[in-house]
Amino acid sequence: MIKVLIPLTALLLAAGSANAQERPAQAVIDAYIKSTFGKASAEWQARIKPDDSLSVCNVTRNNPSSAQSDEMLKRESARVTYPADGKFLGDWKKGYQVANNGRGGQFSDPAGTVAGGNCFACHQLDPKEVSYGTLGPSLAAYGKDRKYDPETIKDAYTKIYNSMAVVPCSNMPRFGVNKVLDEQQIKDVMAYLFDPESPVNK
Ligand code: HEC
Repeated sequence: MIKVLIPLTALLLAAGSANAQERPAQAVIDAYIKSTFGKASAEWQARIKPDDSLSVCNVTRNNPSSAQSDEMLKRESARVTYPADGKFLGDWKKGYQVANNGRGGQFSDPAGTVAGGNCFACHQLDPKEVSYGTLGPSLAAYGKDRKYDPETIKDAYTKIYNSMAVVPCSNMPRFGVNKVLDEQQIKDVMAYLFDPESPVNK
């Protein structure tokens, strides 16, 4: 295994050493990806192929021009599907389960694993919860602070469904567009943010 990995790493390092700022040649990247994922399933192949917006983020190192950003917001907004019944809020207790579940999307998942949103990995939510990440802003009292305003509720749905429809090259996963969470799971996690009874708003 190690014998296979070293030459590839050396190749990448060599390609990168000429100029630390420079991106390795596309052929080097393609060869590395093929050698790593070449024997994997079609599902993995599809997953590592960047879509139009992610390609722009990769090439610009998450620093798109304002024209690229405008285009991206337009393209990604068009990919958001809102609930047909017009209801944005599900069950906050189930939403807690979604927010606190970091499983899914891994090759080692047992069959039938339900993927979660792993929101706590990046956000504070319930202020009583002591373990959370800080890559994203605190979402404690999110609904309460926004007076449960319907427009804000819709915006939050958009954000969770497709974070890049709101912030170009966002670090937040695109839960709906990338089919990590289904509509009901998003509604439940929305209720966790916006139900006045949710611990997030207590
Ligand atoms: C990998 C880290 C990460 C994960 C996981 C993540 N987020 Fe985020 N989230 C961010 C970052 C970073 C921001 C701020 C930058 C941005 O808006 O893109 C953000 C912003 C937000 C905002 C907008 C906050 C505002 O400024 O009003 C909401 C709402 C949100 N996240 C909800 C969620 C929910 C709900 C989940 C779980 C389903 C989740 N996030 C999972 C990283 C993450």
